[in-house]
Amino acid sequence: MPAEANLSERRSYDVMVVGAGAIGLCCAWRASQRGASVVVLDRAHPPAGATRVAAGMLAPIGELAFGEPDLLRMTLDAGEMYPGFVAELETASELGTGYVQCGALHIALDRDEAAELRRVHDLQRALGLGAEWLPPRRCRELEPGLTPSFNGGVHAPAEAAVDPRRMTAALLAVLAAEGVELRGGVEVTEALIDGERITGVRTNADEELAAGAVVLASGAWSGSASWLPESAQPPVRPVKGQILELRAPDGQAPCERIVASERVYLVPRPDGRLIAGATTEERGFDSTVTAGGVHELLREAYRLLPDVAEMELLESMAGLRPGTPDNLPLIGRGALDGLILACGHYRNGILLAPLSGEAVAELLDHGELPESVAAADPERLSLTAGVAR
Ligand code: GLY
Repeated sequence: MPAEANLSERRSYDVMVVGAGAIGLCCAWRASQRGASVVVLDRAHPPAGATRVAAGMLAPIGELAFGEPDLLRMTLDAGEMYPGFVAELETASELGTGYVQCGALHIALDRDEAAELRRVHDLQRALGLGAEWLPPRRCRELEPGLTPSFNGGVHAPAEAAVDPRRMTAALLAVLAAEGVELRGGVEVTEALIDGERITGVRTNADEELAAGAVVLASGAWSGSASWLPESAQPPVRPVKGQILELRAPDGQAPCERIVASERVYLVPRPDGRLIAGATTEERGFDSTVTAGGVHELLREAYRLLPDVAEMELLESMAGLRPGTPDNLPLIGRGALDGLILACGHYRNGILLAPLSGEAVAELLDHGELPESVAAADPERLSLTAGVAR
């Protein structure tokens, strides 16, 4: 990502995206496809936010929680959109994304967990979702590496996964081919504001960049974008997640599907790696990997798939999910004219990235937020400090 700074020139773009994670890159791609001149800024070089750490689970059913019907509708729509999105991206970039519709198996390790899983499964059935309760024998037929003793599971065959790092590489390639300017290592220091309108930003290179619209896609950092007036900073907070990457000695991951319990999810990669995630911690911007976090993930992974003990531990990481007060993302107009929010995707950023990119491009093009993301309109929080218009 070139980080050229030109101090004398004031450059001007139709669209500026602040944040080069999955959301920002999808917004940039879709806006550019509609003919906009686009620049993407990221303070890291290469981008190093939650996208780099994410497991890439595309799991509307696995992430289903009671009382979040709007989020479910959005994640189901996003899941249906994914095969077309990755096919287009892989063709355009000539790069793979690691997308695989592998399905997911949620395991109850004891009677208490079985009671809870049955309760969740009742909700899944009431909502008509594609999930089936299976006794242990049937689970083991699907995943022979499972622990010998457990109480049953729920199979959700439509769940999928993508490798977010490969997807990022593919997005960066198509953006470069589209002529989108990518500036890494550039920190935004100040919003340029004319009356009620944001007209661009100033950067740490003391450069002024003008834009018709500024898309805030800075993930967990969106809520503390101190370059915006306080009233325009959306209510997004960091929620820490620790995650591990393992590799099987024989190149064969110990499961074919996403395998999950109440405390861990395991996502196999086509090349034999296994991602084990993730803790959920409210610790502000702390992104330390802790012995306790690693211990918990390894212990729970081993309880599901004992072969994990033989795997090489490649990497331990911590990322910051962008949480919102109601767990729904913020997609739509912000508190300044010309400011568009594309942030707050919490546990579903990779899944919702293509849908968010389409929605933001549509909003930029036609001034209307599509129905598919209406529930994410920041206006719903207009009584919450930070997004009042
Ligand atoms: N979507 C999984 C997580 O946020 O940990």
